[in-house]
Amino acid sequence: MYRIIVAIDGFSSCGKSTTARKVAENLGYAYVDTGAMYRAVTLYFLGHHVTPTNPKEVSAALAGISITFRRNPHNQANETFLNGLNVESEIRKMHISEQVSQVSAIPEVRKAMVAQQQLMGRAKGLVMDGRDIGSVVFPKAELKVFMTADPLIRAQRRQAELLAKGEMVELQEILENLQKRDLLDTTRTESPLVRAEDAILLDNSFLTFGEQVDLVTGWADTRIARLSRLEEIHRKNL
Ligand code: DC
Repeated sequence: MYRIIVAIDGFSSCGKSTTARKVAENLGYAYVDTGAMYRAVTLYFLGHHVTPTNPKEVSAALAGISITFRRNPHNQANETFLNGLNVESEIRKMHISEQVSQVSAIPEVRKAMVAQQQLMGRAKGLVMDGRDIGSVVFPKAELKVFMTADPLIRAQRRQAELLAKGEMVELQEILENLQKRDLLDTTRTESPLVRAEDAILLDNSFLTFGEQVDLVTGWADTRIARLSRLEEIHRKNL
């Protein structure tokens, strides 16, 4: 079977990560949450008092950062490790969400993360979600999806997620954080969040989780089948 790259981009709190993880599971592919990588860098910068505007400090810090993902055998979740430490729950907290857009807009940070992400995709068979996956990291990805949803619905989903982890945050605060991040993500000079021309738009405001997963898995299956047929024809003609 032909192996493809599925690039899922879109706004914050659209359910990109949960959708991408389930699609990867359905396809038997690896899954990479690139937002978690920028969040881990932000955690490191805050903990080591790195000045984002000082390129020397940023380069030195990046040289000291190793981000890996490991599967938790208890809940099958793919968890983020920063220099060998499990930071999965820490990087999801509000104080990280408040700083991550600034850190992820630093060109050196993006360069380092994109290089790592491209290495992860060398063997294909990968679902990756983020903001610039279809536009910058894998511009030739065989399937690109751009996810969006109504901001209020996104804020409500995020609030429920935080609550489930024991963090109680006002809906208005979450909505403002989302809108601020959307603005920073779409207007930054370095790899802004854009819908790649060939990305399929998926507005999931009124879709259930199962419906959106089925849609994306179906699109991926169709592409895999078509590319596998083309590969077969090519092989026979050699
Ligand atoms: O998907 P998320 O909310 O966990 O992402 C956290 C932040 O990281 C988000 O505000 C934008 C940034 N990000 C990015 O700039 N590029 C990516 N490929 C992924 C995330």
